[in-house]
Amino acid sequence: MKTLTLLGSTGSIGTQTLEVADLRDDIKIAALCANENVALIEKQIRKYKPRYAALMNEEKANELKIKVADTDTTVLSGMDGFIECVRLAEVDMVLTAVVGVCGLIPTIEAIRAGKDIALANKETLVAGGDIVMPLAKEMGVKILPVDSEHSAIFQSMQGEEKKISKILLTASGGPFFGKSKDEIYGATVEDALNHPNWSMGAKITVDSASMMNKGLEIIEATHLFDVPADKIEVLIHRQSIVHSMVQYEDNSVIAQLSNPDMKLPIAYALSYPNRAYCGTKELDFCEFGRLTFDKPDYETFRCLALAIEASKIGGSMPALINSANEKAVELFLNRRIRFGEIPDIIEQQMQNHNVIKNPKIEDLLELDISVREKIEGRYN
Ligand SMILES: NC(=O)c1ccc[n+]([C@@H]2O[C@H](COP(=O)([O-])OP(=O)(O)OC[C@H]3O[C@@H](n4cnc5c(N)ncnc54)[C@H](OP(=O)(O)O)[C@@H]3O)[C@@H](O)[C@H]2O)c1
Repeated sequence: MKTLTLLGSTGSIGTQTLEVADLRDDIKIAALCANENVALIEKQIRKYKPRYAALMNEEKANELKIKVADTDTTVLSGMDGFIECVRLAEVDMVLTAVVGVCGLIPTIEAIRAGKDIALANKETLVAGGDIVMPLAKEMGVKILPVDSEHSAIFQSMQGEEKKISKILLTASGGPFFGKSKDEIYGATVEDALNHPNWSMGAKITVDSASMMNKGLEIIEATHLFDVPADKIEVLIHRQSIVHSMVQYEDNSVIAQLSNPDMKLPIAYALSYPNRAYCGTKELDFCEFGRLTFDKPDYETFRCLALAIEASKIGGSMPALINSANEKAVELFLNRRIRFGEIPDIIEQQMQNHNVIKNPKIEDLLELDISVREKIEGRYN
């Protein structure tokens, strides 16, 4: 039996995690956490009967408390509520599926409490990988990737001596594959949210359209697999069947393939080192026929190039681009800037940033607030 705290239970990964749990009788939900979606978390509380639930938004947490007063679930609020949920004695694993850098603190607290982490929230490692990974090592806790590419890399490394010569990180290319920089500059929110292969939350879908998602994944992979950015090659693979590959010293390449379905990497993280059926459709190789691979267009997808640069600079720079990107995507989703301004904003913040070599958590949190304020100030 695995007892789980689920951070981000109302989101795309959160709801799919609960679908995986529905198929299994060895997963128990101890706590559910989200931001403000009272209606959905109320339904989840009634179905999964967790001991605790928490909403980051205090007002919404009060609303939820009243709605579920007839249940045995205790409702908590804010970051303190999240932290209490990850520290629960009976919890073995925390699945971090909130969106954005708000995942960093609860993930660190979960590691400090000795809980294994199933990590979907890539922003945690992008901003705080230099703190999170050594802490996990010190505490002897596992960080199991849920991101499909990182799960594929992890799966391709099982039983190997880890003499990696290269990671081949695949990318669908998103809705703007093949277009020029000028063609996508004025793209609408609807265009950017129209992902060809995956149905995901709004922020990661926009990141996929700008290819910042792949940039963040490169940084995530450097931390998870202790490989520098220049040993990670991005390949555009439109079919999203090969979820990533690892090339070894002898030039053998090992890949993980499946139909695109996040339930598979979620289930692998929950079952590791075993595998368990999670409803993913069997691959029919003759149906898709061809698998294609292309080089990315760094000129059109400037966010990808900026993220690689940030990874090479290191220190506080990856955290800076993460916060700048989160704020820029928020402005774009609120129709306050054009799509092409996302990399402009990130680049401008990078140019004005004095890199902190070994940032502490407090530095990262301060940086996050100041970057957001600076960008907001410019567009107000
Ligand atoms: N979706 C995918 O297929 C996929 C694949 C790989 C990696 N990921 C990663 O997984 C994470 C989640 O992605 P998603 O697509 O599931 O996002 P999503 O659908 O937007 O869900 C986000 C979740 O986070 C909660 N949340 C949002 N802001 C919060 C805050 N300030 N404090 C606490 N909780 C907050 C939301 O609660 P409310 O609903 O109450 O707002 C919701 O439960 C991201 O880091 C993403 O990069 C996702």
